[in-house]
Amino acid sequence: MAVQGIVVQRGVGPRGVGAPALGQGSARAWSDAFQGRERELERLRCALHMLSQGDPARMLVLGETGSGKSRLLDEAVSNASPARVAILRGRALEFEMDRPFGVLVDALDLRVDSLDPHRAALGRLVLRARDPARAEERHNLVRRIVELVDSLCCTGPLALLLEDMQWTDVMSATAVGAILEALSERPLGVFMTSRKLPFNPAAHDLLERAHPEVERVELDALPSDAVNALVRSLTGGQPSPRLARLVTGAGGNPGLVITLLDGLRDDGMLTVMGETSDTDTTEPPASMHTVVMARVSRLPDRCQDLLIVAAVLGEPLEVAMLAAAVGRSVIEVLADLRQAMAAGIIAEVDGILGFRHELVRVILYKQIPASTRSIFHRRVDIALRIAGAGATVVERWQTLTKAEREVVRHVVAGLSNREIGQRLFVSARTVETHLSHVFAKLGMSSRVELTGAVVRAEAVRDRPADKPGASSNGKNGHI
Ligand SMILES: Nc1ncnc2c1ncn2[C@@H]1O[C@H](COP(=O)(O)OP(=O)(O)O)[C@@H](O)[C@H]1O
Ligand SMILES: [Mg+2]
Repeated sequence: MAVQGIVVQRGVGPRGVGAPALGQGSARAWSDAFQGRERELERLRCALHMLSQGDPARMLVLGETGSGKSRLLDEAVSNASPARVAILRGRALEFEMDRPFGVLVDALDLRVDSLDPHRAALGRLVLRARDPARAEERHNLVRRIVELVDSLCCTGPLALLLEDMQWTDVMSATAVGAILEALSERPLGVFMTSRKLPFNPAAHDLLERAHPEVERVELDALPSDAVNALVRSLTGGQPSPRLARLVTGAGGNPGLVITLLDGLRDDGMLTVMGETSDTDTTEPPASMHTVVMARVSRLPDRCQDLLIVAAVLGEPLEVAMLAAAVGRSVIEVLADLRQAMAAGIIAEVDGILGFRHELVRVILYKQIPASTRSIFHRRVDIALRIAGAGATVVERWQTLTKAEREVVRHVVAGLSNREIGQRLFVSARTVETHLSHVFAKLGMSSRVELTGAVVRAEAVRDRPADKPGASSNGKNGHI
């Protein structure tokens, strides 16, 4: 029940992360102080303050899983400012998308066993309305729910926290829309959270189309100083360069950072020496695989397969190359990529497609045996030969050392740094160093770019007119 002056939260834990959220690992003794997001927090607190003065508020917090949407709400409502605002909180669940009124049942306690007889009566109506034969009763119920919320606002400011609205069912979306419209003058705050690109039409209607007056707060990647502070508060030390590199792979997602650190700690791979926290590994811990694969497994099988191939090909993702590697049309690949973008796994930055988090790419990469990886590279090679591109790499190629050429040859064959290291009897790090020199000399930034350039050079060389001796400088790009 909404009681003035008391913060009532339902269906969520003390941190508001009842979902199998990233970062909820084993019992952690570390402090997980809130980091960064000052402006976003200020906006929410400001809205709550205005609400406590009787002004309405409507906000939508957008961000990918683990970006800190629930935590931001926790922080906003946790301090004294909303002391005179009653808070009701509910969460939409992925597996309840076809259960009418799910998130509102949670937030408003519309259950048959509710202690409040009025809500218990509404709870019975919800149960009846869930019967497909009584679907026509649902719209009547929307009206009753609006009336209930209206009556709650009569006793004082009310904040309705509705989480994970990307999973909302149609009737909840309809009812929330009706509440926003009918109670726009009331001391009512509607604070919703959702993933960035809703792929649920009901959520899309509610969040994107119908209510442009809802203020949007977008949670992008946490800046690196805030991520560093998070690592410090969780481990007690400043991250070493190696740990920092791994943490960077989390792409500023605090949930992923916490999952990573939890996993490293559980595996005994996290050490704190003096002021520095360090790790011996350059690989994400095994426990992260489960978290990442659980996230990917929500996507259709075809899309998952595409992502695994994309992880093998590396970045930047080129749709034509991906299509060539999986033997499908560009249109089909684009449709799957769009789903992966909606799930926050692929992102477009400055017009370039890539994995949102390098850690996710590395984990997907590991899903495919090394022997199979080269198949995809070969398919791309063939496609590029057919496309027949220029041979810009040829001149610069002459500047590479023998060891660097060896590394390139293996990269083109689709081997990872570790695998190349094993073949050349050097460490993966040495391979990495060679590769960084190669990239610098050839003016490139990725394995795919390198592979493509080498293949193009070979294609040019293999054309009769361009055979050594026939070309302008008599040189070739032979590896
Ligand atoms: N700014 C932050 N500072 C510290 N920890 C954070 C921050 N944002 C999120 N977290 C932590 O990261 C994890 C995931 O956050 P959560 O709010 O559940 O993400 P979301 O609701 O967006 O899926 C939680 O353990 C949360 O406490
Ligand atoms: Mg959440």
